[in-house]
Amino acid sequence: MSDPPSIATDPFVQFAEWLKLATQSDLPEPTAMAVATADAGGVPNVRMLLLKGVDERGFVFYTNLASPKAAELTVNPHAALCFYWDRIKRQVRVSGPVVRVTDTEADAYFATRPRLSQIGAWASHQSQPMTDRFELERNCASEALRFGLAAVPRPPSWSGYRVVPDTMEFWQEKPFRLHERVRFTRTGGTWAAQRIFP
Ligand SMILES: Cc1cc2nc3c(=O)[nH]c(=O)nc-3n(C[C@H](O)[C@H](O)[C@H](O)COP(=O)(O)O)c2cc1C
Repeated sequence: MSDPPSIATDPFVQFAEWLKLATQSDLPEPTAMAVATADAGGVPNVRMLLLKGVDERGFVFYTNLASPKAAELTVNPHAALCFYWDRIKRQVRVSGPVVRVTDTEADAYFATRPRLSQIGAWASHQSQPMTDRFELERNCASEALRFGLAAVPRPPSWSGYRVVPDTMEFWQEKPFRLHERVRFTRTGGTWAAQRIFP
């Protein structure tokens, strides 16, 4: 990131630039991000998810709608994301309200997944207790049998969420912990950039 006059005024442009750098830097999972949610009482929860889409509308991930994170997003539709790309020594934090993607968008993404992942989405009751590994394998086998050679539709309990950012922060490592940080804040449709101390 360069000095204030040349910082991208659009944080999505900045994010795209950094994600591209991360993708080119031979990281195994450049789209992996920590996703924090909180329950109705404000108790936080965090887990890694994969970013499956980003544009001016926000950051999209897909998951099970009966999972704890989905329950948290129902009562408290806000999330915070954190990307860290160690090879390029950069972190991006994002936070804002969360909305569900449309069924059409979820269907389109689900259709691109490998067939075994599609079957897995039907077979896995994410985060529910499981007797043993065989229970999952049995569920997969019976779902595979049920669909036969037919296309696997998106399960009703599987869809995506879009985090609509109202803040985005870019952090870049510098020597002696004098890191660079720029925080973008959105008011209406306008983003303002502010440099902050490391
Ligand atoms: C690198 C990585 C990527 C992951 N990507 C996803 C994902 O895209 N969607 C998902 O539902 N779970 C994903 N998981 C699993 C989640 O971390 C988590 O275990 C699961 O979603 C259940 O979370 P919950 O109990 O908080 O709802 C991923 C895990 C790792 C380590």
